[in-house]
Amino acid sequence: MDHFLYRDGTLHAEDVPLPEIARAVGTPVYVYSAATLTRHYRLFEEALSGLPNGIFYAVKANSNLAVLRLLARLGAGMDTVSAGEIMRALRAGVPGARIVFSGVGKTAEELALALDVGIRQFNVESEPELELLSRIAAARGRRAPVAIRVNPDVDARTHAKIATGKAENKFGIPLSRACEVYARAAALPGIEAVGVDVHIGSQLTDLAPFELAFRRVAELTRRLRAEGHDIRRLDLGGGLGIPYARDNAPPPLPFDYGALIRRTVGDLGCEIDIEPGRLIAGNAGILLARVIRVKQGEGRRFVILDAAMNDLIRPALYDAHHDIVPVAEPAPGAAGEIVDIVGPVCETGDTFARARPMPPLAEGDLVAFRTAGAYGAVMASEYNSRPLVPEVLVHGDQFDVVRARPSIEEMLDRDTIPGWLAESAG
Ligand code: LLP
Repeated sequence: MDHFLYRDGTLHAEDVPLPEIARAVGTPVYVYSAATLTRHYRLFEEALSGLPNGIFYAVKANSNLAVLRLLARLGAGMDTVSAGEIMRALRAGVPGARIVFSGVGKTAEELALALDVGIRQFNVESEPELELLSRIAAARGRRAPVAIRVNPDVDARTHAKIATGKAENKFGIPLSRACEVYARAAALPGIEAVGVDVHIGSQLTDLAPFELAFRRVAELTRRLRAEGHDIRRLDLGGGLGIPYARDNAPPPLPFDYGALIRRTVGDLGCEIDIEPGRLIAGNAGILLARVIRVKQGEGRRFVILDAAMNDLIRPALYDAHHDIVPVAEPAPGAAGEIVDIVGPVCETGDTFARARPMPPLAEGDLVAFRTAGAYGAVMASEYNSRPLVPEVLVHGDQFDVVRARPSIEEMLDRDTIPGWLAESAG
């Protein structure tokens, strides 16, 4: 459930009519609902209630500082994957003690920064990373709290580009080598192994792969304990899928996921940490765009929007489906038409939907891409020299621009022409 509903014939974000935001900020623009973010965070809290737990929001899903601050105020910790994300979490008011650091390619500088800000846990993905972290920590007279990310070789049954738990993926340490790596960790002066970490992929719409992975983690935890390691935390990653198309069967809910966690690892007495991103932010955001023009092609009708693949890349990159709805509520039973919905960028990949039945759309109409709050704005670029898409956060009947649209001048001012080219052409 989200808070983007039609009211009096107009799509609203909470109590704000979307045309009001389009007028004030222009389009394209991402619009987030604070109430939806809050509701989704609470669903995870409820799902894990009774278990010692930590919810570490995956910053990569939507890293706007206002979104992070809102979640931090609800009690969320943050799962980060770069120095930039760590700095964002800190800027949003999250203390280092509530930040975990994941990622397969952490640099020495990033590891040092994370140590210096007192990060809660490093999710270590390889032996060379473990050795490097130990050296950096030991040089500071410290022991870095570590969970080793294991690769359980499980098929997450999601899009190949976002599956991470198969042996062929670059992530984690093979389960078969885990005991050896924990033994090495125990011998290193700068490491304190506190847990086990796993993350098998994103947009999972079936709980079975989670079940397989979590059972393997439980088994490993028992073995590691028997070998004398004090495993007290399990970080189960993120990945719970969300409904992108209203007509499809809904994926499992956080409640079902919580029950699965209890069933598979609940008896170990470990603190259970999770790293949800998409489920918290996805349905809490829409991308608001305007129809620039409708063009009749050879046997096809193209609706050309002012949003493009540089603003929302998921359809181009993953063939992802996003429901696209008109902001003016169509009359019940209004005759629809089959259209291709495209952006203005100069490549055919800039297509949001092919042969999509839509209510009639005309130049100047506003449309909303649903379920665009996660992996939307964060993946935006300035391709075709289109200024970075702005973001708005709605809270009840108020809305605030939480990232302004840069002017074209500001965008150009980031480039410099070297002295030897200073003289202008011609
Ligand atoms: N933890 C780790 C270590 C991750 O790599 C990810 C996502 C998450 C947590 C959060 O997963 P979530 O709950 O959001 O599924 N750009 C792609 C998604 C990439 C996900 C990468 N890792 C997309 O637009 O579908």
